[in-house]
Amino acid sequence: MEIIEQKIDQGKKIKMPRTLIKESAERIGEKIKVNGWVSARRDHGKIIFIDVKDISGVLQIVFIPKDKELYKTAESLGSEFAVSIEGQINQRPEKMVNDKILTGKVEMLAEKLEILNKSEILPFELDADKEPNEEIRMEYRYIDLRREKMKENMLLRGRTIKFMRQYFWDKGFTEIETPLLTKSTPEGARDYIVPARLERGKFYALPQSPQQYKQLLMVAQFEKYFQVARCLRDEDTRGDRQPEFTQFDVEMSFVEQEDIINLTESMLIELVKKETPEKHITNVPFPRLTYKEAMEKYNSDKPDLREDKKDKNELAFCWIVDFPMFEWKETENRWDATHHPFTMPQEQDIEKMKKDPGKVPAFQYDIALNGYEIGGGSIRSHKPEILEAVFEIMGHTKENIQQKFGHLLRAFKFGVPPHGGIALGLDRLIMILRNEKSIRDVIAFPKTGDGRDLLMNAPSEVDEEQLKELNIKIAKKDKK
Ligand code: AMO
Repeated sequence: MEIIEQKIDQGKKIKMPRTLIKESAERIGEKIKVNGWVSARRDHGKIIFIDVKDISGVLQIVFIPKDKELYKTAESLGSEFAVSIEGQINQRPEKMVNDKILTGKVEMLAEKLEILNKSEILPFELDADKEPNEEIRMEYRYIDLRREKMKENMLLRGRTIKFMRQYFWDKGFTEIETPLLTKSTPEGARDYIVPARLERGKFYALPQSPQQYKQLLMVAQFEKYFQVARCLRDEDTRGDRQPEFTQFDVEMSFVEQEDIINLTESMLIELVKKETPEKHITNVPFPRLTYKEAMEKYNSDKPDLREDKKDKNELAFCWIVDFPMFEWKETENRWDATHHPFTMPQEQDIEKMKKDPGKVPAFQYDIALNGYEIGGGSIRSHKPEILEAVFEIMGHTKENIQQKFGHLLRAFKFGVPPHGGIALGLDRLIMILRNEKSIRDVIAFPKTGDGRDLLMNAPSEVDEEQLKELNIKIAKKDKK
């Protein structure tokens, strides 16, 4: 950036390049330029002190009345104005040193000030002790994200994703994107659907997860896949649930449950060490409980195994294994897959499985952290006849299986390798690493409890013209 600016200005006055605030501490005695926002202003007699912040830190800037023009501009500065300031970096007087911040030993004596843009008074204070009202935070999310806590949340989120990406690349995985416009795939929630303009009466479904695609990538012989995958599920929003969330999604060929568990566990241990070194993990290796043990002992399949629940830095991971393959769905009077139907039952004898589905355990594992389910996966059923038997137990007719899953069964006829995988719920993991109570606080632009985006005002009505093109008529509300 700076180099280009200098070239353009060749022959004219050379513009001073921008210095990031965190670097100003190393530039004592030099003249530099910083860009950022006014975060505080204190007038001490004739001297004006401004704190200017950028992404890297905060710098104290001093304005003295010697240069009248400059001083007058400084007097007009308000909170959150975007500014560009040039001046000399000096050591602060002894009694003004602040050891808590990186730039606490220095200050800038301003020589030039440009107001790049003014700011209105913010709808809430950025450093108030009490959290601002949730609705206002959502409506002005771009202001909310300026708060220190939110900034740290987003930075840790970014670093966590970067760490995981690198970890999996280093282990020979390939990052592959899968479609958002697709066909319904059963993960147990309601689909979001999108009308197809060119095929009257037909709809795409947004993916609840990339489950089928990642399995098809194993058929495609990629062997090791991962993706930072956006998932969409039309379900009630809660503190640990959003209609739109992110998984770190993994699939591998020629593996057993043990391989996936070990890889995931090693990665999480390294992640904690690198990105949140203040945290400690209660037990390594992570304890493993069967589903039955977890339910008998803790009455939960995501038990909180922390030794001291008041310790903000304790992380108690545990694996839950051997989930039952099927659960009885009373409302629908049928068996359903506990995880999803693609999971491999531990019983390979189809007749035995059909006789007593409730007794069959699956190669399915969840990972829990401090009482939250932060991930889940399974070894998949790669034998078409077992997959078909599972669908039958779930009450699907042969035609129905063909219609819904024919593409997968066909693919499995072309040398599908044994495979399995896992998906980590990134939002939940980061929520816990940051000691937040809601995943909303670790998502840049989340939905409210009732699924709305208050900033963009979504969902919203669309033009009549758009509806016509899609062959959609909105039915009148039934009179009650
Ligand atoms: P599952 O449905 O268990 O598995 O999801 C994996 C992980 O994703 C997180 N999660 C959510 N996070 C926020 N909001 C939600 N609404 C939400 N729903 C799920 C959880 C959960 O553990 N395809 C399989 C994975 C596999 O078999 O490989 C799947 O999606 O942390």
